[in-house]
Amino acid sequence: MSERILIIDFGSQVTQLIARRAREAGVYSEIHPFNKVTVETVKDFDPKGIILSGGPASVTEIDSPRAPQEIFDLGLPILGICYGQQTMCEQLGGKVENSDHQEFGRAEIDIVEDCDLFHGAWNVGTQEVVWMSHGDKVGKLPEGFRIVAKTGGAPYAAIANDEKRFYGVQFHPEVAHTPHGAQLINNFIHGVCGCKGDWTMAAYKQQAIEAIRRQVGDKKVICGLSGGVDSSVAAVLIHEAIGDQLTCIFVDHGLLRLNEAEQVVDLFSKHYNIPLVHRNAEDLFLGKLEGQSEPETKRKIIGGLFIDVFEEEANKIGGADFLAQGTLYPDVIESVSFTGGPSQTIKSHHNVGGLPERMNMDLVEPLRELFKDEVRALGRELGIPESLLGRHPFPGPGLAIRIPGDLTKEKCDILRKADAIYLDEIRKAGLYDEIWQAFMVLLPVKTVGVMGDARTYEYVAAMRAVTSTDGMTADVYPFEPAFLTATATRIVNEVRGINRVCYDYTSKPPGTIEWE
Ligand code: XMP
Repeated sequence: MSERILIIDFGSQVTQLIARRAREAGVYSEIHPFNKVTVETVKDFDPKGIILSGGPASVTEIDSPRAPQEIFDLGLPILGICYGQQTMCEQLGGKVENSDHQEFGRAEIDIVEDCDLFHGAWNVGTQEVVWMSHGDKVGKLPEGFRIVAKTGGAPYAAIANDEKRFYGVQFHPEVAHTPHGAQLINNFIHGVCGCKGDWTMAAYKQQAIEAIRRQVGDKKVICGLSGGVDSSVAAVLIHEAIGDQLTCIFVDHGLLRLNEAEQVVDLFSKHYNIPLVHRNAEDLFLGKLEGQSEPETKRKIIGGLFIDVFEEEANKIGGADFLAQGTLYPDVIESVSFTGGPSQTIKSHHNVGGLPERMNMDLVEPLRELFKDEVRALGRELGIPESLLGRHPFPGPGLAIRIPGDLTKEKCDILRKADAIYLDEIRKAGLYDEIWQAFMVLLPVKTVGVMGDARTYEYVAAMRAVTSTDGMTADVYPFEPAFLTATATRIVNEVRGINRVCYDYTSKPPGTIEWE
């Protein structure tokens, strides 16, 4: 059996990043929600170490989540992150208090003592950048612990009990915005837990193929294809597992980018031999969305209609027993906690919809545990062309969530043109691959302008571009001012309907990548 790390989930939005870091360190891991894990399940799982995740609760509240007390007596290394650190301290006799100094986002910590977690990353006496997200803080250490890093707001920013191999950090080493965070987790997994790390994406692919075969048997599967990276990788993976038991259905809801439908159909019929049904449903979707402006209502209408059309098309080909979706982990976590834990809903994502219940189908979601870049790595393992794998992500509800307020075909057409110009400029500048996602947003605001001595009264559009490694957190892409000016000018000159262009300077958090 391969080496394993157990992650106990207290409902953090970024718990799955811990699992991802474990995969990067070449070690298999599983996430178990705190309310389902017992000391017996831990013993059965036989991990080399345990990581306690962050979470939204406060240790100071009565009945707040706890780890099973006995795990602290198993002789296993334990790393507590944020809430995980706090509950570990409280459960081992320390004290957690509400802090009057909350810390969210970037912070700097002082490394005050050496520690196994820091090897090759941080040295005593330096200041290091971390990503914090906490209201409470440890106030008194349990016996046997020492402080290894601190900040003004968190005097116990990192603590260690070397003898027991227990470690706690107030910040989040699992997010990309803690620059050496992955190294810290790596140090825990390899250095402290002693894992060798022999697990790879090729092994993941093989496991996934076998799991699909086991789940599906000789039954039929249909797959909603959007032409994006996720559904394409899911479709190719499933096709490799079960061949022509798979049929793909592509619903064009009229909310796609310029020429996208043609490209999808072309690609799948040229490159792959997967049976593909193409349905144009633009009138239906835009008709039902008319006059709707509330973001969640729009998302739900699109999700519902998608289900109707998909069901119709599926029935035409005689139905299926399974529905395959390219749902990724970030789609899941922001809709409902992955493991049934207590994280909060931010947006109801389109691909986690109600189709399977209605059609009485089981789901095949082979990418459900992965992040975007891991899906790309899996795609490479499957031999999918880089031109497809490198595409920026595009959300299921499409342009609908890039047109705040109500939608019309006219607005979609305006946005499509502006978006194509923006991406054309980005490609020409050689920046496409540096950017995680770039797109235009059409605002429900008209402003006055002047063109050719005449007054104009047209829409405002916003350019958005972010860097990210997983879509969970994101930074604004720092374009040169000359690029922004030239692109804005080109958009206003070439797109009738837009007379003003802005650039969105909001990171995630506090913004989200999409505007709705
Ligand atoms: P947000 O806006 O939540 O987006 O920061 C994070 C990532 O998810 C994409 N996104 C979606 N993808 N269905 C999808 O398949 C959806 O309903 C959906 N909503 C957002 C978004 O484009 C970004 O990459």
